[in-house]
Amino acid sequence: MVSRRDFLGLSAATLLGGGLTRSRRTAAGAQAAEVEALRKRLAADPQRPRYHLLPPAYWMNDPNGPIFSKGQCHMFYQYNPQGAFPESMHWGHAVSADLVHWKHLPIALAPTPGGPDKDGCWSGCAVIDGEVPTLIYTGVFPQVQCLARGDEGLLTWRKFASNPVVATPPQGMETTGFRDPCVWREGDEWYLAIGSGIAGQGGMVLLYRSRDLIHWDYLHLLCKGRKEELLPGKDPVSRGEMWECPDFFPLGEKHALLVSTQGTVIYSLGAYVNQYFRPERQGKVDLGDAYYAARSMGDEQGRRILWGWIREGRSDAAQRAAGWAGVMSLPRVLTIGRGGALSMTPAPELEALRGKDHQFHDLPVSQSLDPSPDGSLERHRSVFSRRGDSLEIQAEFDLGSSQAAGLTVRVAPHGEEQTSIIYDHAAAQLRVERDHSSLAPDVDRAPQGGPLALAEGETLKLHVFLDASVIEIFANDRSCLTSRIYPSRADSLGLGAFGLGGEARLKSLHIWELHPISPNRLTT
Ligand code: FRU
Repeated sequence: MVSRRDFLGLSAATLLGGGLTRSRRTAAGAQAAEVEALRKRLAADPQRPRYHLLPPAYWMNDPNGPIFSKGQCHMFYQYNPQGAFPESMHWGHAVSADLVHWKHLPIALAPTPGGPDKDGCWSGCAVIDGEVPTLIYTGVFPQVQCLARGDEGLLTWRKFASNPVVATPPQGMETTGFRDPCVWREGDEWYLAIGSGIAGQGGMVLLYRSRDLIHWDYLHLLCKGRKEELLPGKDPVSRGEMWECPDFFPLGEKHALLVSTQGTVIYSLGAYVNQYFRPERQGKVDLGDAYYAARSMGDEQGRRILWGWIREGRSDAAQRAAGWAGVMSLPRVLTIGRGGALSMTPAPELEALRGKDHQFHDLPVSQSLDPSPDGSLERHRSVFSRRGDSLEIQAEFDLGSSQAAGLTVRVAPHGEEQTSIIYDHAAAQLRVERDHSSLAPDVDRAPQGGPLALAEGETLKLHVFLDASVIEIFANDRSCLTSRIYPSRADSLGLGAFGLGGEARLKSLHIWELHPISPNRLTT
């Protein structure tokens, strides 16, 4: 058996085909067969995406401190090198020159026994302090803020000897949590936003200021939630009493604040005046519940790029058995769109993945609402010759007289498995319907979705990325919907389009087969 400790090194280095010292490599040699077996299993797992960033194995959650340095995008992420379950958080690390192809690097942060992060290095951010790459993150338990300095390649990290740099919430505050620092610079000063909240009152973001990233003064609340927004329930995060992973940045003429409250990332656009943020409009960064803990970075072209953690939609046991859990989202470019709402589009760099393309134009798509013999709605009448589970699809619908229209993906030859991406015109809702996505017993089937209002005469534009068990949808450049599906049949690869309750027209349909970013689903 490979011991947990060895796997820690193996998963991060040997699996990646590099990074171990010679002596460690020799010590690890005995376990090579087992590592190879895991490697093979992951490489052959049809649910494992081929062009999304994934850790070499095991568990990941939040993106942490995405940052550009010397023309490269460094991505850190919450990582458990001991298995596909959320424990003992480390910071995994990968680097990319183009936001698409990645190279895994050694683990950046690991808990220090006896230290303030002994039980985990939780989420945080990265900044470059002069020339010095610096990570600010939450150590647990209790939740405190810690700092580590890196070398110029961002490869090795030294924790500040007197961690934590912020040891407690402001005096007298009974908070629901105190975590996930977000740091930025204004003039000669650093500012630090920490996710928090107060039971019965709502989430809040605490604002601190420092000259050296070490000594922090608490200023006031950058922003707080409203009591009326609280939902019934027990968990402070799902109630909205605790705002996780605050992300605060300028966007166009405005400022944006993102906070994560269990399955939902909420954005606010507003004014930042005298170190107070006043939200003017709000919305969801994603209409599903698979996209979470989003973090953004500025790039060298002045763009704002957002990353999120795509959670699993299957049981804990299935995740452990698979040997991996969690996926990094594709990069989204954020801008302020027409009418002042948040606009989200896939980063153009993703076009590098495009292989063979297929186009269809001006097709009528209509469908009765009659159920098929197995009781499901046969929605894949217009079936295209292109099939696959690694596709980019751009579809533009003229909704015509239809009540709803959309695409079916991952359709089995007789529709035994299929997933619908549906725009319900009457309800002005975009949904992913998963009741027939999989014949497997232990996967999420609940529909996912939310509001998408189209203006009079506006066409429906769906931009969809299919990657094994991941679906990412960009609708009309302003709503996103990320979902997980786990078709069990190898032939659930069909693609169709439908209109319901009337006739819709598919003005254009563009399908690209996408290249994998590695030959073996191991990312690097
Ligand atoms: C969000 C979160 C953060 C925390 C991290 C721990 O998913 O709960 O608040 O820092 O995950 O892994």
